[in-house]
Amino acid sequence: MTLERTFVAIKPDGVQRGLVSEILGRFERKGFKLVALKQLTPSRELAEKHYGVHCERPFFKGLVDFITSGPVIAMVWEGDGVISSARKLIGATKPLEAEPGTIRGDLAVNIGRNVIHGSDGPETAKFEIGLWFDYSEINEWLPSDNQWRIES
Ligand code: RTP
Ligand code: MG
Repeated sequence: MTLERTFVAIKPDGVQRGLVSEILGRFERKGFKLVALKQLTPSRELAEKHYGVHCERPFFKGLVDFITSGPVIAMVWEGDGVISSARKLIGATKPLEAEPGTIRGDLAVNIGRNVIHGSDGPETAKFEIGLWFDYSEINEWLPSDNQWRIES
């Protein structure tokens, strides 16, 4: 078992379209544990750091404009293999190429309005969790049904 944490954010289009409960439910039903959650409208500084790897790309300014345009739901999810599993639940970057059953495959059409972000690897997850959350905002807790999720 590889117990991991990953950073997931519902982007402004997901919040505006009323998809928050739909998306949270998919992660909950999968069996992952929510250890941090908050709503905020990101500053440009935060957004530019978050998407820093894309700073030379032609879509960078539009991406930062979009992600700072309204409230985002920022989350940390914990579980066995959650980093790659969250990416599978989310689906391909281009929603038209995302498989049905994935969040982007079911709920989005356009690459620039693809509803949700998930960390793409362990180093990114660590960086993004530290960027968006203070240590004190992460909750250590044991779900009462934990024995039904993970073999002990
Ligand atoms: P994200 O970081 O948002 O979870 O998305 P991702 O890993 O699936 O894709 P990534 O390559 O990291 O791209 C970040 C976001 O930039 C926008 N994008 N636009 N117009 C374009 O060609 C283009 N390419 C990427 C997307 O909104 C993508 O989610
Ligand atoms: Mg990415």
